Amino acid sequence: MKTFYIETFGCQMNAHDSEKVIGTLVGQGLSQVETPEHAELVLYNTCSIRDKAEQKVFHRLQQFKREAGKGKVFGVLGCVAQQEGERIFDRAPHVSLVCGSASYTKLPELLVQIGSGSKRVTGLSLDTEETFETSFTRRDNPHRAYITIIEGCDKSCAYCVVPFTRGPERSRTSDSILREARELADMGYSEIQLLGQNVNSYQDPSPAGWDFARLLREVGAVSGLRRVRFTTSHPRDFVKDIIDAIDENPVLCNHVHLPVQAGSDKVLTGMQRLYTRDDYMRRIEWMKNSPRNISITTDIIVGFPGETEQDFEATLRLLDDVEYDSLFSFKYSPRPNTAALGLADALDEVEKGRRLSILQEKQRGIQLRKNSELIGNVEEVMIEGFNKATLQWIGRTSQNRTLNFVAPETAPLQTGQYHQVLVTRAGPNSLVGEMVH
Ligand code: 5AD
Ligand code: SF4
Repeated sequence: MKTFYIETFGCQMNAHDSEKVIGTLVGQGLSQVETPEHAELVLYNTCSIRDKAEQKVFHRLQQFKREAGKGKVFGVLGCVAQQEGERIFDRAPHVSLVCGSASYTKLPELLVQIGSGSKRVTGLSLDTEETFETSFTRRDNPHRAYITIIEGCDKSCAYCVVPFTRGPERSRTSDSILREARELADMGYSEIQLLGQNVNSYQDPSPAGWDFARLLREVGAVSGLRRVRFTTSHPRDFVKDIIDAIDENPVLCNHVHLPVQAGSDKVLTGMQRLYTRDDYMRRIEWMKNSPRNISITTDIIVGFPGETEQDFEATLRLLDDVEYDSLFSFKYSPRPNTAALGLADALDEVEKGRRLSILQEKQRGIQLRKNSELIGNVEEVMIEGFNKATLQWIGRTSQNRTLNFVAPETAPLQTGQYHQVLVTRAGPNSLVGEMVH
């Protein structure tokens, strides 16, 4: 095999995993191509967080089914691979390779087996010996880089497949993280995003024994870095010291993504989230009291089994109480192996859809209001690209807002640069402005 194609679904962890897979395959002498038609090896790095995400990969596999006869090799990687394992061979018999995220270091070996005639190979062990070796990573963006600090998840939220697809928590040593951060800064990356399913429960396995806040301070101090972000946080492990670290160092972005999932204590208990609405609001208060004007974003699931109209209204009230800068919202989707699968009082799809629309409409209003408050401010953006249709540059603020802006035609702008932009208009999802300098 000489060529491969890879399509990635799901979260940033998956996007970063694909960067590692691409680097590994390129290191084996394969080259990446842009379409499945042109590839000898077609890989899908999959997500199984909701049923819809899982179905996508099976649709894709159906699309190119006939190509398998012509010698094309198909592989399923990531969360669906780990969750479904060898059952994938039954559902899509033309697949030859099934490999979960903890086994990517074994990919070269698995490809050799396919090369020597094996029809079906798997890498499905979730053993915790996996290394955080990253020297082969092929990064997609020349300015912003992901760094994995912790893999897996030890929580057991009743709706969530992640503990099954990514296994138990394993933290990476602080030494190895800092080494990667310094290397990236030396290579010219100015923004780093620390990744993990639950970054707050980071616990340095080396004798230094750092917690997440300490790690954040140290990464923030790496010379050459201008922005450090992190995701995802679990409210239970979110301590005030994280906010203190953000207050101390402007390199640490003033944005925290803190998934709440629901606003009613009854639903939070059913979800096994391990905090109450009051616990959550205390963390919000820490952020609101910060001098850094921290933007707060969240994830919400509507229609968890047993969610009454009153429970849902409690979630709507939470939106008013917190005034999120942005949120991701989802209809509850029953997932294999999870505790919620056996719960009674499932809501129908129509009702879930109704609640989702109400929630999103309400949030739209909040975002428009919050974004409008920024008109007249000067914000620093990192340039992410240029929109040829609108002739605007696309920038991102430290708060993680999109700020599209115009600049004098003579200004030699490039992606990755940082500029000051005056905010002149606001929509619910983005801001518009003019470059100041
Ligand atoms: N159904 C719907 N949404 C889910 N999420 C996780 N599991 C499910 C599920 N079974 C959402 C949560 C999580 C985000 C990444 O996806 O809100 O924070
Ligand atoms: Fe999807 Fe979760 Fe896997 Fe990320 S970790 S790819 S969100 S199932």
